[in-house]
Amino acid sequence: MRIVDFIEAKRDGKVHSADDIHTFTLGFTRGEIPAYQASAWLMAVCIRGLSSGEMFALTDAMIESGCRLDLSSIPGMKLDKHSTGGVGDKVTLAVVPLLAAAGVPIAKLSGRGLGFTGGTIDKLESIPGFNSALSQSEIIHNVATVGACICSQTGDLTPADGKLYSLRDVTGTVESIPLIASSIMSKKIAAGADVILLDVKIGRAAFMKNRADGEALAEALLEIGERYDKKVSVTLTSMDAPLGRAVGNFLEAQEAVSLLKGENADPDFEEETLHFVSRGLSLTQKGGEVQAKHLIESGAGFKKFCEIIKVQGGNPEVFETPKIASHQKVVSAEKNGYVYDIDALAIGKTAMRLGAGREELDDKIDSLAGIIIHSGIGIKVKIGDPLAVLYTSKPSEIPDAETSIGISFTISDHRAETKSRILGERSVGF
Ligand code: URA
Repeated sequence: MRIVDFIEAKRDGKVHSADDIHTFTLGFTRGEIPAYQASAWLMAVCIRGLSSGEMFALTDAMIESGCRLDLSSIPGMKLDKHSTGGVGDKVTLAVVPLLAAAGVPIAKLSGRGLGFTGGTIDKLESIPGFNSALSQSEIIHNVATVGACICSQTGDLTPADGKLYSLRDVTGTVESIPLIASSIMSKKIAAGADVILLDVKIGRAAFMKNRADGEALAEALLEIGERYDKKVSVTLTSMDAPLGRAVGNFLEAQEAVSLLKGENADPDFEEETLHFVSRGLSLTQKGGEVQAKHLIESGAGFKKFCEIIKVQGGNPEVFETPKIASHQKVVSAEKNGYVYDIDALAIGKTAMRLGAGREELDDKIDSLAGIIIHSGIGIKVKIGDPLAVLYTSKPSEIPDAETSIGISFTISDHRAETKSRILGERSVGF
């Protein structure tokens, strides 16, 4: 196959054969096809799309490009969870220990944050000593002994996705539904779970900006899951406002710990967490909603969180006397009224500038940087009341951050209607 013909075929809206997609994907992974040709093809896909057959072939090829995690020695239905990402999304940090405490085995492979979206691994690495780089045998050992592990994507699983994703990230080709679906599902299938819980975020701080695109991504994810005979549940959730009160790595880990300890959780964060835990429990036939809440109240979830952290070298005692960033600044309300809206995209971008996120994959992040929302949507405020607190080690960023946080809050005479962030759900394989 001539790569130029392959690119031109997609440019002209033609459908590739599965063989050609394999040749391209594996050739690119081995370094035989240059990035400029791969970029041209990715852009053609963004514009022309992929048929279901092409998306399946790309998923197959990305799985074949590396090894697969064999969890068959661990008894029971193994579960995995993935969120398409957003601002303040620390749900995985709470869901994994809660499900593991109920006896659901989980090998959770997670990513780092890029741009304004956070990554689970960065949140966990804010805990001193935590090691996210586990070998395949360590993953299997930890899941068999502790019940769960959360580690970074290993290079030998779906290397084609790793290479293609890095290229997409710098060529404006991330936002394509078949590329996102095959990227997510190839990693989940290679990681060996039987049950996959997916959280498709929709809104201004998500890849999917509207409901129709969110539904289309859900459909693509379910199609791939069905083809691989997996049990897949997709929940659509809103990502217009930040989730919970904390944005920033250690701040979010602290918020997850507070929820696990049953301490005054943010209602939206608690609702999403309990939703995914009850889905996980019922899909693996371990119970339902009542048990999800009980796992928090009994302390079982927090105990399991500490075990997972300790076995990966982290020290959960850090949450007893939490560290704090060297500089803090309170952002206050400039008018009376109700907090009507908070722009998650603006909050995420500001948190990134304060040091909580990275622009390039190898940028260093400041694990203590971030934002705590004091007055969430629906709260009545007076002039001078705190809206949020900024945390950073870069005091020069504070003035601009203060302005953008002020703008990201909409204060109105009317109280916003209370709405669930859970917008819908679909599943296959049950
Ligand atoms: N997350 C992924 O893993 N892949 C994508 O393409 C987008 C989000």
